[in-house]
Amino acid sequence: MAFQAPKGVSEYVPPRSALFEQARDAFATSARRACYAYMETAVFEETALFVRGVGESSDVVTREMYSFQDRGGREITLRPEFTAGVLRCVLEHNLHKGALPVKVWTTGAAFRYERPQAGRYRQFYQFDLEAIGTEDPAVDAETIAVGWDAYASLGLRQYTLLVNSLGDKNCRPVYREALQKFLRGHFQDLDEETRRRIELNPLRVLDDKRPAVRDQLANAPVMADYLCADCKAHHDAVRDLLHALEIPFTDAPRLVRGLDYYTRTTFEFDHALLGAQSGIGGGGRYDGLSEDIGGPPLPGIGFAVGLDRIVLAIESERPGASAQPGTGCQVFGVPLGEDTHADVLTLITALRRAGVRADMSFGTRGLKGAMKAADRSGATFAALIGDQERSHDTVRMRDLVDGEQYDVPATDAAAWLIERLGTNP
Ligand code: HAM
Repeated sequence: MAFQAPKGVSEYVPPRSALFEQARDAFATSARRACYAYMETAVFEETALFVRGVGESSDVVTREMYSFQDRGGREITLRPEFTAGVLRCVLEHNLHKGALPVKVWTTGAAFRYERPQAGRYRQFYQFDLEAIGTEDPAVDAETIAVGWDAYASLGLRQYTLLVNSLGDKNCRPVYREALQKFLRGHFQDLDEETRRRIELNPLRVLDDKRPAVRDQLANAPVMADYLCADCKAHHDAVRDLLHALEIPFTDAPRLVRGLDYYTRTTFEFDHALLGAQSGIGGGGRYDGLSEDIGGPPLPGIGFAVGLDRIVLAIESERPGASAQPGTGCQVFGVPLGEDTHADVLTLITALRRAGVRADMSFGTRGLKGAMKAADRSGATFAALIGDQERSHDTVRMRDLVDGEQYDVPATDAAAWLIERLGTNP
């Protein structure tokens, strides 16, 4: 074949795709329980939305966006993240004029031109959740809890939560200046890129992973010491609420996030076994984003999860992990001979309508081939119909686990199987 997927595109095929589905569903379930509503938003937006929203000094905007001119000469960018587009959509549809907060979730592909490696792709998948329209610290704790509980429901254990506050438009500039002063004094012998960063976006220097830089940062001022009274009260309230919800977290005074819109609460979920790309989710407040993109003052908070990394996290904690129970095929129909296909299809269609997951052997592969397919399907029962069964109006059920066989009247077949298998909720 002459084609391959473009470099860095993450794809999922069976059977591994079942894990991906499981990861996405776990977050959707957690969001629904907290009464977040589903949204589907634009995969591409006007480039200016991300430049103004995500921020001109962020890595995402300066070098990672998939931007192009469309045939009408418009500047377009494939979404590198969801938040700016979700907020744009909420404002465009006036949801913020109804009951607040607007609580929504969405999921799908995002695009960043990064250097591909394990856990880092150019097309990757996020689950994203946003609560727009309140400063209440309880909603900060709620969003974190929705994420926390979803990781837990997937059986993950080796993840941790890091929490920080980045202050607001009153106290952050004061801190920014103090940090800049410190960095200018200590980092003159560093590379051009870091010197430029000190001037443009000094908080990002705190994110530098190089040991030599980290050592020098040990004495750098931290935001916690510069929070204004309102931000401090907000941060303390979020921390107290997390304690009340029994969500363990680590204070991370040097946690800064890669996108420029963050204010106050910021957080990250890290996984212990994923190496360099350990961030399995992250988020925070963006109280100024609405105004940045031309909307009214409207605070908001949310987070996004990298679903690709959740799949890797599940596999690292449970090597060989496969589909969750409750998704595989339960019954596999086997036509014995050419002319019983219709009988088998009728039977499995009745089963499906009753909520049983059923498949059958298609084509002409003979009994041996069909039984092999039945075994491969992972089904609990094979339902065989041949000339003999048809003339007696029965179905031969074979338990694929212990090999026992049962002749069941055709009219009772669905009920017989459902009694033994249960149905999907
Ligand atoms: P982010 O930290 O840029 O935040 O991305 C969230 C998550 O997406 C990361 O923790 C990571 O798991 C995953 N991720 C990011 N880039 C890649 C990549 N190249 N390959 C695979 N996974 C990746 C945001 O996107 C914010 N919009 C989150 C947010 C929502 N803040 C407020 N609301």
